[in-house]
Amino acid sequence: MASAGHRPYWSCRRSATTGALLIAGCGTAPAGESATTGEPATATDLDPAPNVVEVNLVAMRGRVRYLAAGEADVWGYSDGGRAGASVSVPGPTIRAKQGDRVVVRFDNRLDEGTTVHWHGLRVPNLSDGTPSTQKEVAPGERFTYEFVAEDAGTFWYHPHVRADIQVERGLYGMLIVAGGSQIAVDADRAFVLDDVKLDASGPLSDKTEALDIMLGRQGNVLLVNGRRETRLASKVGARERWRFVNSANGRYFNLRMPGHRFKVIAWDGGLVPAPYDTETLLISPGERYEVLVTFLGRSGDTVMLENLHYDRGHDVPDPGPKTLLQVRLQDAATPLAALLAVWGDMPAIATTASTPTRQIVLTEKESTAPEGEPAFLINGRAFPLVPPIEARADAIEIWSVKNDSEMDHPFHLHGMFFQVLDVGGRPPAHAGWKDTVNVPQQQTLRFAVRYGTPGRWMYHCHILEHAERGMMGELVLSEKSP
Ligand code: C2O
Ligand code: CU
Repeated sequence: MASAGHRPYWSCRRSATTGALLIAGCGTAPAGESATTGEPATATDLDPAPNVVEVNLVAMRGRVRYLAAGEADVWGYSDGGRAGASVSVPGPTIRAKQGDRVVVRFDNRLDEGTTVHWHGLRVPNLSDGTPSTQKEVAPGERFTYEFVAEDAGTFWYHPHVRADIQVERGLYGMLIVAGGSQIAVDADRAFVLDDVKLDASGPLSDKTEALDIMLGRQGNVLLVNGRRETRLASKVGARERWRFVNSANGRYFNLRMPGHRFKVIAWDGGLVPAPYDTETLLISPGERYEVLVTFLGRSGDTVMLENLHYDRGHDVPDPGPKTLLQVRLQDAATPLAALLAVWGDMPAIATTASTPTRQIVLTEKESTAPEGEPAFLINGRAFPLVPPIEARADAIEIWSVKNDSEMDHPFHLHGMFFQVLDVGGRPPAHAGWKDTVNVPQQQTLRFAVRYGTPGRWMYHCHILEHAERGMMGELVLSEKSP
């Protein structure tokens, strides 16, 4: 397993004083992908300055073998800073420390226009990578994205042009910002969850059925870091930090690890103020969660990570639990330092009875034309006909998102984090910063938000087929009040 160029995770360096894992590059082989976890390689940092991460990112066609039967033509990202790098799905993981300046020189070698959106990051508006903030990067053209990694956490990047098609073809990758409280762990791993719809001979299916549009395309093959049936090695008693991103167009992942519990430590916007234990973890498209897992059992045991059915509407049948990955336990881990009592910081956004409330109603509409597609609407209109929400950049407001449809919709707001106030009138069981949240069918979710940076910020359902068919709008923030 530990062949040249591939380090097993337990050789990661540890801080001599705290025993905590030194995160940078850990769990990832120096080039190519890690043999043990299948994690994508870290994007090459071309700037030697310690507080600058400069990456060349190329979007291009490539081939990936998901099934033994044959390869799939994909569109993906490659690390332009590494000679001979090819496309990987997910793309290279961009790693930075909190406070670093991140410069991404993007090169579009696809045959169609695209952009790169930095999902969850508080970036300057011109680097948000949407049709509201820039022209599409045309084939053969380049664009430079630049921002400071303000918040520690697990983020991701993907196109914001024909996203239902482009993300499904393989254009997505992680961006991980280290920082915040040190947490002593035996391994820090990141997993992008996705699914693909494949033909039996290996390629991505080119058939779009009505249900693919109604639910967001659900694949027939589940992927963790772009591969099926990932296998890991760990030790009995080992404590690991697992970061999850759901990059699927429409699939909800509902995770379980039989015989184990997840300790949820972070949401979209970083560490939560009070970690909590759970047996199942629902992750809707676009969301991120970080958990700690501590392996129970005996040397030689195999622990499974499974995906369970979640009823998100339209009577999708339950296919039963599906294995996402397996962890083989060997030997016993050396005990780590105790967990800290200090977690994330989340002062409540101060709202009052006079805080303005924005009303958003999500609906779906069958097509009236015989061959037409359904529309997914915000306040009865399809983007770009949804009137923008206009506000001052320093305002605090409440958004009331009413889901008046027969299925759940994951609601995403760009460029800032919010705090959920209530769902169906009840306060949430746990607190944390969100940028993407599931709004259950026939319920209203309210969140409080303190806006931040002036500009045009998109909000939309993160089921990409819905966003691209109208369930999207713009928040336009003007300069702060004098
Ligand atoms: Cu991850 Cu506007 O999207
Ligand atoms: Cu939706």
